[in-house]
Amino acid sequence: MTDTIQDKAQETTHFGFSTVAKQEKAGKVAEVFHSVAAKYDIMNDLMSLGIHRAWKRFTIDCSGARPGQRILDLGGGTGDLTAKFSRIVGEKGQVILADINDSMLKVGRAKLRDHGIVGNVAYVQANAEELPFPDNHFDCITISFCLRNVTDKDKALRSMFRVLKPGGRLLVLEFSKPVFDPLSKVYDAYSFHLLPKMGELVADDAESYRYLAESIRMHPDQDTLEGMMQEAGFEHTQYYNLTGGIVALHRGYKF
Ligand SMILES: C[S@@+](CC[C@H](N)C(=O)[O-])C[C@H]1O[C@@H](n2cnc3c(N)ncnc32)[C@H](O)[C@@H]1O
Repeated sequence: MTDTIQDKAQETTHFGFSTVAKQEKAGKVAEVFHSVAAKYDIMNDLMSLGIHRAWKRFTIDCSGARPGQRILDLGGGTGDLTAKFSRIVGEKGQVILADINDSMLKVGRAKLRDHGIVGNVAYVQANAEELPFPDNHFDCITISFCLRNVTDKDKALRSMFRVLKPGGRLLVLEFSKPVFDPLSKVYDAYSFHLLPKMGELVADDAESYRYLAESIRMHPDQDTLEGMMQEAGFEHTQYYNLTGGIVALHRGYKF
């Protein structure tokens, strides 16, 4: 009896506040990003009042990326980080924008080509849990606002560790836990009431933005995620709270 209950618990995971079978989650996440792909960039600017640009700039600044390096922008979506890395690594370097979702990849590729970013960027459809790259391949991996959507986060972190070169670093930019109580209350009201309304008005999709709010609440907090990174093998881990912990940037190294 106990075994049966444990088996059942291991077969399920969360999708926002709902409990779903593990095999179902990736399909449900795919529906969300197929649905929001075309309006993703404008919604990002509206929802964050443009602040996501500063969070991403900080991520680039902490990445230590240099000319000639090979970088993986995992769950790279519409390519904001890829575009910046492409300029830094130059023609001798390479950036791979990998994403599980072909709608997001298409929007990203079209946007980057419109900005004249070609040559040192490759696009790969891949699941973060099973990266199709050789061991010890990348100087740096970024995963920005993606990890909370991944079904098996520990497996994904181990996969990232495997494909990083020794000396390489992982940067995880993700929503996290606000560090001031009053900020949490305002943020809750904003996320659960305003966000779905904005989603409905701008992208005709309240449900996906309700999932966004719920998935943020279900994501591990700063210290838990740092522990998961260490468990996967990363060393010298640290994190920075951004905008009062609404977002955190975690960094860890493979030695
Ligand atoms: C919120 S978007 C973030 C896009 C971009 N990194 C940014 O910061 O603007 C999350 C992205 O993660 C992708 N994604 C979700 N689950 C994934 C997985 N298991 N493996 C790879 N990509 C995944 C989605 O398709 C989507 O493009």
